[in-house]
Amino acid sequence: MDLTLLIHPAIAGGAVLMVVTAYLLKTRKKLYFRLHYAAGILAFSLSMVAFPLGLYLVFVNGGVSSFPGALVFHTVDFFAAVGLIVVQGGLGMGMLLFGRKREAYRTHKRMAKYVLVVFLLQGALGLLTLYGILPFVFGQ
Ligand code: HEM
Ligand code: HEM
Repeated sequence: MDLTLLIHPAIAGGAVLMVVTAYLLKTRKKLYFRLHYAAGILAFSLSMVAFPLGLYLVFVNGGVSSFPGALVFHTVDFFAAVGLIVVQGGLGMGMLLFGRKREAYRTHKRMAKYVLVVFLLQGALGLLTLYGILPFVFGQ
């Protein structure tokens, strides 16, 4: 194992931060528009880069069995996280491109808290996994 194992956590950590930012920019007293789109699009793009990298890095480093147990939960939650950001991002970008349809707006608004919670959970499980592999990254 080596430093390349830190690439996914760095990019995916950025994605989690951008989801939190996008959420806060629309749920505080002052509402932001273009900054929300920027944070949301970044959250979507970073997620799309991060998850294949995570899969690849686990694959070339001996598979799930050579990683800490927390990775299993991180992998299960990844399906929820990627599914939600694809739908949330799709609805958001759809509204920008084709106008704010009522249904899209309501679904996007209702889904936001689930996207936030699932990403925070994914980040926490990611940190646990990262903590478990640090000796391999910096050790031998
Ligand atoms: C590609 C990414 C995204 C795009 C393009 C996008 C776009 C939009 C658009 C067009 C609106 C309608 C209001 C407006 O015109 O500003 C909106 C509202 C909202 N979005 Fe997003 N969004 C994205 C991602 C996200 C994410 C990741 C979250 C949170 C996890 C989120 C949470 C919200 C919330 C809470 C609202 C406010 C609804 C209200 O007015 O109460 N969005 N977004
Ligand atoms: C956007 C949120 C995230 C997604 C979608 C995601 C997805 C994934 C996937 C699919 C894997 C491969 C799992 C397998 O092959 O069984 C993985 C591995 C891993 N993830 Fe994440 N992850 C996210 C966030 C994070 C965060 C925030 C951290 C840590 C701060 C993290 C740390 C790790 C670690 C340490 C691995 C093992 C491989 C490596 O070190 O690159 N992940 N992740």
